[in-house]
Amino acid sequence: MIEFIDIHKAFGANKVLDGVSITVQTGQILFIIGKSGAGKSVLVKHLVGLIRQDAGRILFEGTDITNYREKDFYEMRKRCAMVFQHSTLFDSMTLIENVALPIRKHRGVSRAEALEQAHAKLALVHMDHLADRAPGEIGDGLRKRVAIARALTLDPEYVVFDEPTTGLDPVSAVRVDRLIREMSDRTGVTSIVVSHDLRSIFGIADRIVMLYQGKVLLDGSPSEYRRCENPVVRQFVNGLPEGPMEL
Ligand SMILES: Nc1ncnc2c1ncn2[C@@H]1O[C@H](COP(=O)(O)OP(=O)(O)OP(=O)(O)O)[C@@H](O)[C@H]1O
Ligand SMILES: [Mg+2]
Repeated sequence: MIEFIDIHKAFGANKVLDGVSITVQTGQILFIIGKSGAGKSVLVKHLVGLIRQDAGRILFEGTDITNYREKDFYEMRKRCAMVFQHSTLFDSMTLIENVALPIRKHRGVSRAEALEQAHAKLALVHMDHLADRAPGEIGDGLRKRVAIARALTLDPEYVVFDEPTTGLDPVSAVRVDRLIREMSDRTGVTSIVVSHDLRSIFGIADRIVMLYQGKVLLDGSPSEYRRCENPVVRQFVNGLPEGPMEL
């Protein structure tokens, strides 16, 4: 379980998070949604120490990580992996070498052993048959899969996906969604997905938290979102250009 408790974060005069409290339950797929600039990426970056809160506390499995120093986050980043929006695979390496890299670095195993473990992770995302290709030889959707495999290399308990389907064609996007669901069901990993992709949200979320004006506007299941009568939630859920949502 991860608990964000009353998190505040501003950049100068720009108050981004204004008292956000969210509990992430183990084993769930939790979506963080909201319009562009709502603070979704800022919020999740707190988890791995890329951004530090101005006020509030964060508990990771009961441990208070609020005042962690940079080096304390090294261990956290193994337990909580991030898949960034623009996945950064090394072009000069094959796909399997990309996935093997963190294994070599952190596990101190032989090259052969690292490649074997990497192969198993590629198989999890159904990419083992393309192991020896270079990132430049495959499309964006497949690259995203490899980035997901790489995030799973150190067997994290949590994976944060920042906009995993943005920029993908609709078919690749649905496949990535399905992969996240499958991964969650098969490995029990807890997923935090930042997204504004309505199809993903209603396709695979167990729970959805909507950020608006620095606060949690609604925290509930997909069916609660469908039923919710708050006009801002309605506008978002229906993807309407006109409505009360501020620009
Ligand atoms: N390092 C930073 N320094 C200053 N301002 C920042 C920084 N990171 C984010 N911001 C600001 O914080 C606000 C929230 O940004 P954030 O990236 O969390 O939005 P988002 O909800 O992830 O949006 P998007 O859907 O476009 O990715 C924005 O106004 C952004 O300009
Ligand atoms: Mg973002």
